[in-house]
Amino acid sequence: MPEPGPLVSLQNVHRYYAMGDTEVRALDGVSFTIEKGEFVSIMGPSGSGKSTCMNMIGCLDRPTSGEILIGGTGTSQMNETELAEIRNETIGFVFQQYHLIANMNVLENVMLPLRYQGLPLHERRHRAREVLERIGLGDRIKHLPHELSGGQKQRVAIARATVTKPAIVLADEPTGALDSETGQSVIDLFGEINRAGTTIIIVTHDPEIGGSARRRIHIRDGKITEDERV
Ligand SMILES: Nc1ncnc2c1ncn2[C@@H]1O[C@H](COP(=O)(O)OP(=O)(O)O)[C@@H](O)[C@H]1O
Ligand SMILES: [Mg+2]
Repeated sequence: MPEPGPLVSLQNVHRYYAMGDTEVRALDGVSFTIEKGEFVSIMGPSGSGKSTCMNMIGCLDRPTSGEILIGGTGTSQMNETELAEIRNETIGFVFQQYHLIANMNVLENVMLPLRYQGLPLHERRHRAREVLERIGLGDRIKHLPHELSGGQKQRVAIARATVTKPAIVLADEPTGALDSETGQSVIDLFGEINRAGTTIIIVTHDPEIGGSARRRIHIRDGKITEDERV
């Protein structure tokens, strides 16, 4: 068996956007690796390239140049189907605005990613319920998203992101729509998930939230300015 490399590796990644006659360098030569089990925040002001960086790690978008390796495998030669497979099997996504399906209840939302795993309905239901109970929402499974608070919605989104047991959870401004106390409890939940072995990568403009991570990668104008470990 070959020695597996880092879980995530960005190698001199550039992502440019054409804006009329000008070119926006959203990422301008970014390189770093993230090992299995790390809890990392990617921090920087608005417009610094954080979401672009997350889209790269999550294989939601391709770099203009450079290479991204997930679990030691390069992604630049992969087709869309192969990239979708990586996303479904390896990565759970959490977004600022939760992205829950409005007309599905909590349980159905969390069951959704399991559809792609070919599991029978009763097994999907069982696993989703288990994750929701662990997250403290066992008594809310029949609720619709609009019947929940912001913090509860984000917990449902986190349950949905983790129900497939992905190696990596990627969260883009997961506390951006929450008050600071609720935001901190969401970060604590990520901490718990991390202690159980999942690699967590959180993108945030909020220094307090980013400061909860043991490793903080600072980005500005598409470049890494600092990579601190505490
Ligand atoms: N689809 C796009 N088209 C053009 N410019 C974009 C696009 N997405 C992002 N940008 C630009 O790239 C830069 C980085 O954006 P982004 O990664 O969203 O920053 P952040 O998440 O840190 O706020 C910004 O200047 C933004 O305007
Ligand atoms: Mg952003």
